[in-house]
Amino acid sequence: MQNKIIVTGGCGYIGSHTVIELIENNYNVVIIDDLSNSSEETLERILKITGTKPTFANVDLKDEMATKAVFKKHKDAKAIINFAAHKAVGESVKNPLMYYNNNLCSLINVLSAQIENNIEGFIFSSSATVYGTPETLPITEKNETQRPSSAYGNSKKIAEEIIDDVIKASNNFQAISLRYFNPIGAHESGLIGELPSGIPNNLMPYITQTAAGIREKLMVFGNDYPTKDGTPIRDYIHVVDLAKAHVLAVKRIINKEQDMPYEIFNLGTGNGFSVLDVINSFEKVTNSKLNYEIVERRPGDVPQLYAATNLAKEKLGWSANKTLDEMVKSSWDWEQKYRKEQSSKESGSAF
Ligand code: UFG
Repeated sequence: MQNKIIVTGGCGYIGSHTVIELIENNYNVVIIDDLSNSSEETLERILKITGTKPTFANVDLKDEMATKAVFKKHKDAKAIINFAAHKAVGESVKNPLMYYNNNLCSLINVLSAQIENNIEGFIFSSSATVYGTPETLPITEKNETQRPSSAYGNSKKIAEEIIDDVIKASNNFQAISLRYFNPIGAHESGLIGELPSGIPNNLMPYITQTAAGIREKLMVFGNDYPTKDGTPIRDYIHVVDLAKAHVLAVKRIINKEQDMPYEIFNLGTGNGFSVLDVINSFEKVTNSKLNYEIVERRPGDVPQLYAATNLAKEKLGWSANKTLDEMVKSSWDWEQKYRKEQSSKESGSAF
């Protein structure tokens, strides 16, 4: 019999890629999503890719009764992967209460429903933002966490602390937090990928939208950082590599392989690339010039973040294997395919 996994936020960017990997590894997936930043059409795309349409419930996880009801229906689930959250850093600075309310109330309701229905495993979608400005690099899971500069980031840090308390208070629940570095790229089918609503905050979708003619030019936020070319360094990781790590985390929980009831793993490649490295890679793989301009620093950006990857390798048996060029090309392939699809929809021809 297939093991059932509940995936909150399963129609979103990282969620949908993870659902595909779970289905391909023979799990029975139930998606809970309120579609506030995603579309039900993702389910059709998952069907097209995998031949399976996951069970879907349109539930706002801030609604405690509705959350408990849907979990009760799926109490035979072996684990939950909790992606559901708002994630726009700038928006969270302007509207912190909305972020704390959404990201933390939903987490509390999911954890309560998990306990009530005795579902043993919980996997949390966390972020390297919990490290703040790291004093030592590469960042290991033992690095001190710091208060992130945005309410979004802080909601991730507080969420990890809540999970820690909940796991300590119980005898039969296990959790894993996965701290993502900078996810980019898309599924090789080109059917699902990142679809930021409005103006993208993140570098990669901003680059591809600029090249696609949707944005006029990319603003490079500062070239006076203490790095090799003055632009900030990040650890970009392909979303499918990231998705595969979730499947391994599910297996680790279900097979009771954990060393401790609550474990934390970095998910990155261990390689740091500057903003100019990413632009150069884009120009190389597309054989085109990108319109960009160096402007002021963006408040809150840290000079360098890249992961120590040994723990995920040793314990999850996971490592990321895509190169920067492959990741950048994958983002561009998705952007092009999506835009083509949109324009053929507008001109009336079927996709
Ligand atoms: N950048 C630009 N121009 C842009 C967008 C980004 O120059 O238009 C630069 C940034 O200054 C930064 C780099 O590209 O140096 C990466 O920026 P992203 O916004 O893509 O990613 P961040 O590292 O800032 O953000 C990531 C995650 C967040 C998380 C944050 C905290 O996307 O979820 O790390 O570290 F909160």
